[in-house]
This record gives sequence, C-alpha cells and structure tokens, in this order.
Amino acid sequence: MKAKMILEKDFQVGEVDKRIFGSFIEHLGRAVYGGIYEPGHPTADEDGFRQDVLELVKELQVPIVRYPGGNFLSGYNWEDGIGPREERPRRLELAWRTIETNEVGVNEFMDWTKKANAEAMMAVNLGTRGIDAARTLVEYCNHPSGTYWSDLRRSHGYEEPHKIKVWCLGNEMDGPWQIGHKTAHEYGRIALETAKVMKWVDPTIELVACGSSNSGMRTFPEWEATVLEHTYDYVDYISLHTYYGNPDNDTPNFLASSLDMDQFIKTVIATADYVKAKKRSNKTINLSFDEWNVWFHSHAQDRELEPWQVAPPQLEDVYTHEDALVVGTLLISLLKHCHRVKIACQAQLVNVIAPIMTENMGPAWKQTIYYPYLHASQFGRGTVLQPLIQSPKYDSKRFSDVPYLEAIAVKNDEDHVTIFAVNRSLDKQLELETDLRGFSDFVLLEHIVLEHTDCKATNTKEHPNNVVPHHNGKTAIVGNIARSILPALSWNVIRLKRK
Ligand code: AHR
Repeated sequence: MKAKMILEKDFQVGEVDKRIFGSFIEHLGRAVYGGIYEPGHPTADEDGFRQDVLELVKELQVPIVRYPGGNFLSGYNWEDGIGPREERPRRLELAWRTIETNEVGVNEFMDWTKKANAEAMMAVNLGTRGIDAARTLVEYCNHPSGTYWSDLRRSHGYEEPHKIKVWCLGNEMDGPWQIGHKTAHEYGRIALETAKVMKWVDPTIELVACGSSNSGMRTFPEWEATVLEHTYDYVDYISLHTYYGNPDNDTPNFLASSLDMDQFIKTVIATADYVKAKKRSNKTINLSFDEWNVWFHSHAQDRELEPWQVAPPQLEDVYTHEDALVVGTLLISLLKHCHRVKIACQAQLVNVIAPIMTENMGPAWKQTIYYPYLHASQFGRGTVLQPLIQSPKYDSKRFSDVPYLEAIAVKNDEDHVTIFAVNRSLDKQLELETDLRGFSDFVLLEHIVLEHTDCKATNTKEHPNNVVPHHNGKTAIVGNIARSILPALSWNVIRLKRK
C-alpha cells in the first residue's frame, strides 16, 4: 500500500498550546494513594511522594494536571483536605464507593505539581456544593493574605498563594451518574453565578464550563449551546470528554476511533461559534478536552470490587499495543485541531486508566500508551502544519472511509519538523512518500517506531519492556522527497532537521 503527504511551510493549522499534553489525577483507586503518594515506599521523598513516579511524569513533560476529579469532585468537601492530617475526616466516597482518608488535599497536590514541573487545573464541586465553596477555595488558594481563607492557608504553612490559573466548573454535570446531576439550564445558571464570583475573587483565572460527558449523550450538543448561552461572558473554555474501547474485539473499527474524536471536536467548535454568533460576541470560546483515553479493559473486574475500601485497584486497564495506536491517533486528532483545543488531559496519569503503573511498595513501569504520549509531548510542540494526505481507505462497522494513514506534522522551530504517523493496517506496510516542499534542506534526524507482531501485547511488572519503541525506522530523503516504510500496525515519529 502507498500513501502520499505534502507538507508546505506556510500551510499551518496553528500554534500548539503545550497544555494539550496535560493529564489528570483523581481521588480514585490508586491514582493518589499508591500512585503519586506512598509514604513508606522505598523511593518516597520527605513529603511521601514516590520519586520513581515523579521521574516518569517528568519524562512525559506533563504541563498541566487536572485535580481532584472526576466523579469524585461532585461529593468532595475541599476543606476536608487541609490542616493537620490527623484531624482530617475519613469519608464515604459515593462516586466510586470507597473510603477517602483525605491524607492528600489541595496543598499536598500543589507541592506535588511543583516537583513534577506541572501546572494545576483545579476543579470546584457543583454537585453537592456551589458558589460559596468555590469562592472560598479560590480565596484560600489564590488570595495573597489578610483575609480569613488566605490567612488560614498561610497558617497551614503556605505563605505564598498557589496562583492556580485554570479552574473547572464541576464535572460531567450532564450525566445521571453524577452526584447533583443537572439539566443544561440548571447547570448553566449555577455555573454562571459561580464563575462570576470566582472571577471577582481572582480576575486572572480562566474557567472551563462542563460540556457533554461524551458525544453519545442524548443531550449533546444542545447541552453545550444552552450552557454557553448562560455562561458565555464568564467562561473561557467548554470541556469535552470521551473514552474508546474494543469490547467486541473489532480492531479495524477500534483503530478508527479518532474519526469520532475529530467529529466531536468539530461539532463543539460549531456549537460554540453558533452561540458566539447569536450573542454578537467578539470572544471565542476554546476547547478543553479534559478527559480522553482508552478505557474498557477493567470494567468487568471493577464490577466485582468490594465497596468501602481505601484506595482499591480500580480502573486498572492493562493496555495493549493496539490501544497505544489508538492513543497515537487521538493525539494526532488533538494536534489537528490545535487552533481551538487549547487544553487536553489524558485520563488519567497513574494506575487509573494510566500510562504509568505501580505496585504498592514495588516498582513503577510504562504501559504501552506511555510511548505515543511521550513522543507527542516531547516532539509535538510548535506549529502544526496542514498536510495534504492521500491514503487508501477502508470501511469498518461504524466508520466509512477510514484512511489507513493517520498523520500530522509539527514545525517545532525553524530547524526541526516532526511527522507523527499511524498505519492502521493489520497486515500491510504502508509506503509513505512525503513531499517536503518548503523544507528542501532538511535531513532525517531519526525515525522512531512502535510496532509489535501481537496487537494484544502488553507491558507488565514482569515484562515491562515487551512493547517499546525502536529507532530503526526506515526513512530515506532524496531531494524534496522523504520515503518512509510504516510497518503494519505501527506508530511512527519521523524527526527531520535542517542540514
Ligand atoms: O476518568 C474516570 C471517570 O470518567 C471520571 O471520574 C469521570 O469524570 C468520567 O466519567
């Protein structure tokens, strides 16, 4: 099979906001306890944070981490997580049917983000709580001093304000599973009033309104239109969430999941711009894709779990090679829409549907999906180019005209260009001819490939290096033309540099 791509210097989609390589930590399963935090672990630092995990997070260069949920958020009292640890309450956590010890709260999380070189994306509870708890949390975190809540923070040992810039107004409020689920009008009203007051406390913050929990929701996209009609002047982003899976073992169909993500993003852009037109506004609402990933492997196991445990193993998907390819195509989709998607969080970061896995008191290792995330975060910053692609196509159960080649290119700087490409074919290599017009004086730096003979191959504690990338990809450049071989079922990172 053959495919062609043309790259022109001046055909650009837009600048990548590095926050599209964000992640998410929820008080859920072993994400916090046993994930980022495990006092007593051999690598734990003086604050109880696992340094083996921190090293991996730093390697991923995660720029922003959403916290503390997720469904957890909608029953959370943030005040439970501040002050002396021994006085913090243990609570029934109703979203995930566990016990929350509150050993980690907002201050500890902020300590951790500093160590991880990441920014926090904080969320306020609009399920059981509302305006008051949101405004006091912003005051506690961001007001310098001289008021009840800011001085309380100082008394807890945090003299300087945390200066948290990005805040989410609740979580998945359109979903009946959410504590305090609301109609679009109910949510739109409370989100507006909360946003207004949060920005009165700190006018420098940016706010994310809840969009739909996924594009399959019956209320999508009317939800987005109604919510934005209420909140347009006070919010900066509308959120999108989506998870994909392969429960029927239909790999060609699963590998086409990014076509759904493309369509979801396009529809939300159109809906936000419809409200903009209706309001005769000059302001543009951007997109925060703050939950996305593959999630399905752990569903059955989670149904068997005994309730009311502390940090049980929940949502612990063990990812396959084909999952990594889907994650690669989803990252390409985010890059393709970088002109409007300014924040995105792979859900989640450690243990819970995550690129990083740990064993309590044991090692940490990289799941298959770690690698496309790593490469995109390392080499996907700069200006996204608008490629012209010709690829053979196939039809799957749900999608028609699925291109075998999914690809995008990023001009990292004047001297570097990176091509990300997935070959969706189960059994055929793809010969890719890239016309590098405008980049005629570029040579190959490296061609990284993630491939495996078994699309169900995984990385485990026992075999952590079963699915790992190699650097022996085949690309040759003659004149303006780069010829690459993309093996069947492969993720490719083709890095070019000026001669
Ligand atoms: O990331 C897991 C869960 O998925 C989150 O808690 C929720 O927001 C979504 O439904």
